[in-house]
Amino acid sequence: MELTSQEQTMLDGKEGYAVRKSMEILVALGEIFGAKNLIGVGGVQVAGVSYHNLGDAGLEFLNSLAADGKVKVLTTLNPAGMDLENWQQLGISPEFAEKQNMVIDAFQRMGIVISCTCTPYLIGNLPLYGEHVAWSESSAVTFANSVLGARTNREGGPSALAAAFVGKTPNYGLHLDENRVPDVHVQVNAELTKLSDWGALGYAIGKKAENKIPYITGIKTVDLDELKSFCASVVTYGAKPLFYMKGVTPGAEAQKQPQETLTIEESDLKIAYDAINDDVTNIELVCLGCPHCSIKEISEIATLLEGKKVAEGTELWVATSRTAKQLADKRGYTATIEAAGGKFACDTCMAVAPLKGRFKSLATTSAKGCFYSRQNLMKTKMGSIEECVDAAVTGQWNN
Ligand code: F3S
Repeated sequence: MELTSQEQTMLDGKEGYAVRKSMEILVALGEIFGAKNLIGVGGVQVAGVSYHNLGDAGLEFLNSLAADGKVKVLTTLNPAGMDLENWQQLGISPEFAEKQNMVIDAFQRMGIVISCTCTPYLIGNLPLYGEHVAWSESSAVTFANSVLGARTNREGGPSALAAAFVGKTPNYGLHLDENRVPDVHVQVNAELTKLSDWGALGYAIGKKAENKIPYITGIKTVDLDELKSFCASVVTYGAKPLFYMKGVTPGAEAQKQPQETLTIEESDLKIAYDAINDDVTNIELVCLGCPHCSIKEISEIATLLEGKKVAEGTELWVATSRTAKQLADKRGYTATIEAAGGKFACDTCMAVAPLKGRFKSLATTSAKGCFYSRQNLMKTKMGSIEECVDAAVTGQWNN
């Protein structure tokens, strides 16, 4: 890989340990993937924030970088293993909280914005069309590439951090025009009537398109929350973190519709629901907000919970960014949700909190949430916000 003299200086250690280590990571990655050079990035999103996933070795690595450097570009964080302010209410142990706070402290010393959300685009880390970034949360990577038209590979936590310290990333993969061409036309003939249908659609396209870039037609209407749900699902279940949706995403009209065609029918959505839903009736955890809830979703949850109570033996978590929660506080949604017995899970989510073995069953709107919760030994049900709130209030899946 060709380096400029300034990049060589960074690799030689003239800007300190954190930058040298970061350059070593970026150069190694660039050489593996055949990048010719590094390109500047406008922002970074770092995943790998939960102490649950990092452990002591990860914490030590972060401390070594934090001791000797600051990030060069706007850098935000993915969800952590707990609500940073309200962890006791979510049943997190003091031992875990202490370690998680040490992780956050390391990121803070690096100059990273402690946003702890997988929807950085809703809280100010919003790249422009065509802008190069280095993001490492799969749903957000897919959203950035597809809905925003920005350019990012699906970075790992260390390579995203390295890009933040250097302000650059290796120029390969989805940064290059030739790797952003759709390979398969997906004609959607199914009606999509509720949020979870977008998770089911992501499952169906992910499975059928495998590692191809889909060019999707047949979508009549879609909103922001549905797109973020689809992004999370399609990349979890198979496809590359980039799709085009005719009439919806930028750049779709400029692409040629691929010859190879797949169709998605109502029966494909049913197959998706059948695969995602387990045989379970009693619901111990209802988690809404995967990806993190927007303020609109929080308002819908609050409206549905007005005058109701979460069933005994069931917990309702609303996972969101602290920024959205602060808006919810001001609008009175927080008070309504908490009066019903619901809990906010800011800064965290069901996949990265240490939940293994704590709940036996989950109801959620999210196909991605179901995928990861099964790894936490939960049986899963996926449905609309209404169906999930009903499960929270009755303690049962009634649909
Ligand atoms: Fe976000 Fe966690 Fe879902 S990171 S996309 S809420 S699994």
